[in-house]
Amino acid sequence: MENNPGTDKQHKNHFGLILHLHPRKVRVSTLRFDLTFGLGGMAALLVVIQVITGLLLKFHYEPSPENAYNSILNLQESLLFGRMLRNIHHWSAIALVWVAFFHMMRVIFTGAYRKPRHASWIFGLALLILVVLSNFTGYLLPWDQLSFWAVTVSTSLLSYVPLVGEFLREALLGGKEVGQPTLTNFFNLHTGVIPLLMIVLLGYHFWRIRKAGGVIVADRDLDSPMVDTRPNLVNREFTVALVLLAAILLLSSLLDAPLRERANPSFSPNPAKAPWYFMGLQELLIHFHPFFAVVVIPVTILAAAIWLPYIKTEDQNQGIWFFSPGGIISARLSLAAGALFTLIFIGLSELLPDPELLLPALPPLITTGLIPLLIMAVTIWLFLKFLRRRLSLNRSEIIQSVIVLMITSYAILTLTGIFLRGEGMNLMWPWQV
Ligand code: HEM
Ligand code: HEM
Repeated sequence: MENNPGTDKQHKNHFGLILHLHPRKVRVSTLRFDLTFGLGGMAALLVVIQVITGLLLKFHYEPSPENAYNSILNLQESLLFGRMLRNIHHWSAIALVWVAFFHMMRVIFTGAYRKPRHASWIFGLALLILVVLSNFTGYLLPWDQLSFWAVTVSTSLLSYVPLVGEFLREALLGGKEVGQPTLTNFFNLHTGVIPLLMIVLLGYHFWRIRKAGGVIVADRDLDSPMVDTRPNLVNREFTVALVLLAAILLLSSLLDAPLRERANPSFSPNPAKAPWYFMGLQELLIHFHPFFAVVVIPVTILAAAIWLPYIKTEDQNQGIWFFSPGGIISARLSLAAGALFTLIFIGLSELLPDPELLLPALPPLITTGLIPLLIMAVTIWLFLKFLRRRLSLNRSEIIQSVIVLMITSYAILTLTGIFLRGEGMNLMWPWQV
């Protein structure tokens, strides 16, 4: 019985799911770690961790304003590994936002968003939105001062959406203010609707990647040999998974998820800030007319992201990080310019008199919306024109530069909102905040 065929079959079954997600053979060139940095796989593992730890938390958590906070305290204090469980869920949630974001960056920088990968890109965008929404809906559940007021502030942004904004806000909150119906809504979205949607979209995401013939391959690597997926790719994936798991466990045993005092609806902290991933938006609201900050700018960016795969580019930088030396210089300059422009913009809006007072005859929609937006757009356009001429960039490199510029700008807005805004959302030094 030494040569038992069953053993081989069992072995294959053991890897059945993994092989189902992969083709039998992969191109050697796609095994290079610096092509994908294993980020898609990491994001998938983090979703699995969230579902498992979330289901376990659900055994103990009570979604009512009277009991939610105490159930978390109790989970942390008296349940074996309760605190660890909460910490893992908390830190993996934040890690998922960063990993999904960096995964999107690697897709952009290797030009992997174009046909035949356009559907993976668009469904990827939907996944990113779901990742942020899971974080946001989970944020309220501990029902402490931090979560209660962060959700109050963030949902109030919705009221700036014309016509449907107030309706959307009340539908989400289940009333005029954050209360029991809000917690019920957020709990059901968080533990039911969003994970379900995410699993369906992920299934489709994975299927599209296989349909496109696996991850992107540079033209110059098209003749690189094919090797067996197991062990070549599978072993690499396990290594990345183990390192990520070790990092999450280490972080969760060293740092506790925050929990402030119990939510008090009649006492608002000053300043009341949105969760960190919405802080850039809250900061934008200080400088722009609300309609521009909450509707025009985010919707334009989302529309541009959906349109991205359909922009015609006849260049060869698919599967290659930074096609030309000019591309690298341009990305660096865009990083510096994004930071500089945004800091100047924040400084000027602090120092100059209110545009509404300067041009009182014009409506605020023009003075604090259209005019600053046009000034910003023209500055960016001139900067890109300069880059294109100086560095003879191709179209993909221009797209990459625009993206670097915008992301740096959002990062600066976020950092300003978190570290430099104190009482009354006024600008202060970090140690005064
Ligand atoms: C991608 C998926 C998920 C993300 C990003 C996520 C994120 C979060 C976040 C940020 C919190 C607040 C944690 C804190 O207290 O600081 C939270 C809490 C919670 N989540 Fe999730 N979650 C996910 C999936 C799930 C699933 C699938 C379930 C259950 C089926 C679940 C159940 C819970 C429960 C019960 C809490 C309250 C406990 C607590 O706050 O510690 N989560 N989640
Ligand atoms: C929960 C979130 C996500 C998971 C679990 C996930 C998972 C994956 C995996 C495993 C791969 C193949 C390996 C790799 O590229 O590392 C992949 C590829 C891809 N993903 Fe995602 N992804 C997520 C979010 C996103 C987002 C936010 C975008 C973009 C907006 C995106 C766009 C793509 C594209 C275009 C590919 C094909 C890349 C190529 O063929 O080279 N994904 N994803």
